Amino acid sequence: MNKVVYENDHDLSVINSLTELYNAAKDCARCGLRAGCSGVVFGEGNPEARLMLIGEGPGADEDRLGRPFVGKAGQLLDKILAAIGLERFAHAYIANVVKCRPPGNRAPGPNEADSCLPWLYRQIELVSPRIIVLLGSTALQNLIDPDARITVMRGKWLVSKSGIMIMPTYHPAALLRDTSKKRPVWEDFQQVRDEYLKV
Ligand code: URA
Repeated sequence: MNKVVYENDHDLSVINSLTELYNAAKDCARCGLRAGCSGVVFGEGNPEARLMLIGEGPGADEDRLGRPFVGKAGQLLDKILAAIGLERFAHAYIANVVKCRPPGNRAPGPNEADSCLPWLYRQIELVSPRIIVLLGSTALQNLIDPDARITVMRGKWLVSKSGIMIMPTYHPAALLRDTSKKRPVWEDFQQVRDEYLKV
């Protein structure tokens, strides 16, 4: 198992609840994305979940509703969770690398992701999950290694300095485009379920 590290150079450690963190994040203008979106899509789920899922950034549906993963990819994610006996509000906390929708659904640029990551790092600390699933290459590259390839890294456990088990897998939107990714994602989530059930 590889040892991985994520940086945590931020000043948000004084914030001690997700509600407080949301209140601070909703007025964030650390990058230009906020000016072009409807609002911050902070994250949702069980604040004490043992499992955290991290995607790329809000799309049009998420931007409109202010909630993560509510469009087609989100519906598929809910089905994947259901297939391993889990439900987003009961068993997971869901967030994204960036909290504001990048225009035209493009991937966030490095400066946008870097500006936004402190919010995510503090979310991770406050939720304190035992398992994190990284959904797609944006999450993988921003949390683990900018040169990492999802095709190579998916399905293999990583572990953070603080002992969080991290499983990279394909983004559900990638499955919608390419059904051959269904099996590997199913296998990855079976590993997640097995790990989840260990406690
Ligand atoms: N894709 C993401 O990465 N995140 C969302 O919230 C929705 C779609």
